[in-house]
Amino acid sequence: MPEVVTDSYLHSMMMAGIVAEHETTANATANVLRLLQHPDAWRDICDDPSLIPNAVEECLRHNGSVAAWRRLATKNVTIGGIAIPADWKLLIVTSSANHDQHRFVDADLFDIRRENASDQLAFGYGAHQCMGKNLAHMEIQIFLDELMRRLPAHAPGRAALHVCAEHVVSRSGASLYVEWDPAMNPERTNPSVRERRAAVRIGEPSSHAASRVVIVESVSACAERIARASYLPMDARCCAGRPVRIST
Ligand code: HEM
Repeated sequence: MPEVVTDSYLHSMMMAGIVAEHETTANATANVLRLLQHPDAWRDICDDPSLIPNAVEECLRHNGSVAAWRRLATKNVTIGGIAIPADWKLLIVTSSANHDQHRFVDADLFDIRRENASDQLAFGYGAHQCMGKNLAHMEIQIFLDELMRRLPAHAPGRAALHVCAEHVVSRSGASLYVEWDPAMNPERTNPSVRERRAAVRIGEPSSHAASRVVIVESVSACAERIARASYLPMDARCCAGRPVRIST
């Protein structure tokens, strides 16, 4: 019934289904496999699956599947001191914003406990922000949980994901090299690992998920009932080993 379901409507629905919903999520899920290259992060997730939601945010920030998006200026506007005339076509490189040093401390560092990882712009921003972002979060969390339970013991540090960056917008894993001993797969000896364990989190990860163990380096009095404590990350993997200063 072309008068009810028009050609243009069908095209639009196919684009939504194939590109907006499937390709973006499949690529982002593949890019999550980069985690296998970070043996410490992988071990931490295996030990504590509640880290998964924040790890997903960090994967999307560090290496999302949509690297850029387009906008059309509807009126003259000045952004960051740059005059943009109406009708200009803009390419918004969100993957670059996701590595902005002003927003993210040690932006190129991959840190699954990063406190503001969910500030990432992989799903765009504003009125047209991705409608499926909660669904995509859920899917990637479930994938990571399944993989982590079934393949916890791959050869640490031996994994390599090659990401194809030939497309302006799309980033996807092109090949993956990973080594493991199938005899070590836990489901061979303990079928209960197939049951889902980690709770799926909708919305931003809780602050608990971003918690990290720190060493109190020093405490000094600043004023009455106020002390300044200087902390070092336990594993020196965040903040490039710099103390995080917090006044309490
Ligand atoms: C990791 C997976 C995904 C990524 C990285 C992603 C990324 C994006 C981006 C960058 C936009 C443009 C946002 C903007 O213009 O500000 C967008 C729009 C959109 N996405 Fe996603 N997306 C993902 C998954 C999904 C899923 C699973 C669905 C649906 C089930 C979906 C449905 C849509 C729709 C309908 C829009 C258009 C929203 C509008 O124009 O108002 N996306 N997505």
